[in-house]
Amino acid sequence: MKIKVSAPGKLMLLGEHAVVYGHPCIVTAVDKRLYVEAEVIDSDEDEIIAPQVKESRFVLETITLFKQKYQIKKRVKIRTKGDFSHNVGLGSSSAVTVATFKALSEIFNKKLSLRQIFELSYEVTLKIQGVGSGFDIAAATFGGVLYFTKGGKVIESLEIKSLPLVVGYSGVKADTPLIVRNLKLKMQNEKLKVKIEKNFVLINKLVKSAKKALVNKNWKELGGLMTEDHELLIRLGVSTEKLNIMVKAALVTGAYGAKLSGAGGGDCMIALVSEDKRRNVETAIKKVGGEIIKINNNAEGVRID
Ligand code: MEV
Repeated sequence: MKIKVSAPGKLMLLGEHAVVYGHPCIVTAVDKRLYVEAEVIDSDEDEIIAPQVKESRFVLETITLFKQKYQIKKRVKIRTKGDFSHNVGLGSSSAVTVATFKALSEIFNKKLSLRQIFELSYEVTLKIQGVGSGFDIAAATFGGVLYFTKGGKVIESLEIKSLPLVVGYSGVKADTPLIVRNLKLKMQNEKLKVKIEKNFVLINKLVKSAKKALVNKNWKELGGLMTEDHELLIRLGVSTEKLNIMVKAALVTGAYGAKLSGAGGGDCMIALVSEDKRRNVETAIKKVGGEIIKINNNAEGVRID
């Protein structure tokens, strides 16, 4: 039996970095998906074909953990395919992990709840990366727009049908675990720690206000909060010149708000726009060297295709 499963990528809306230290964030799943095809094979070894090279370790660790849990000896073949490259920071590693757990649970007929898939996938990610809040795994598992705290202590689904976002890729691949670790290192200095924690508290407040603005579809307010969040991320030292220029380009062409999305250091920025401003904002981002990535938010979580 061959099974095909997919899980969505994600975009962090607000709360990055602070979420690693116990504060909430808001994340949306996006309609760029990662596909996993799985089957049992008659072989001495598992076979992994993951052209998105970065993913193969995630697949390998997932197979290992799943087989340990259920004492399975049979061999499997896993082939991955993606709607997006792992370069853009949309969360291909978490999506592939979540999709692989789901695929294995199907081919071996072991029922795994979404919560179990989330927890097992988080375990794999922590094993490989050492750091992370798990927000990306929650998005890949549950889909939609989520209010989230570290390790899935809180995973609240927000009823948001669509969110008018423009996504601009900065052209630079960010090393998320490295950026998270660097911030942790900075916090070993007592003075810096106090400063950084103050920023986290401000981000926490923004996220809570943003949750209300989102649910009320108050885009103007939400946009303002996103831009404030970006300013705080600049203060944390995680933004880049390129991201700042792209954010500015979006703001001067009429976006409600804009910010980097994710760890910083590269990857993507997002802008919240009214439909009549979308084209101007996209053109402005392209003019400063950004690449527009077309996405829709509120994508479905992990599923059998
Ligand atoms: C990275 O996309 C977001 C961070 O908050 C890390 C994490 O939450 O795992 C920086």
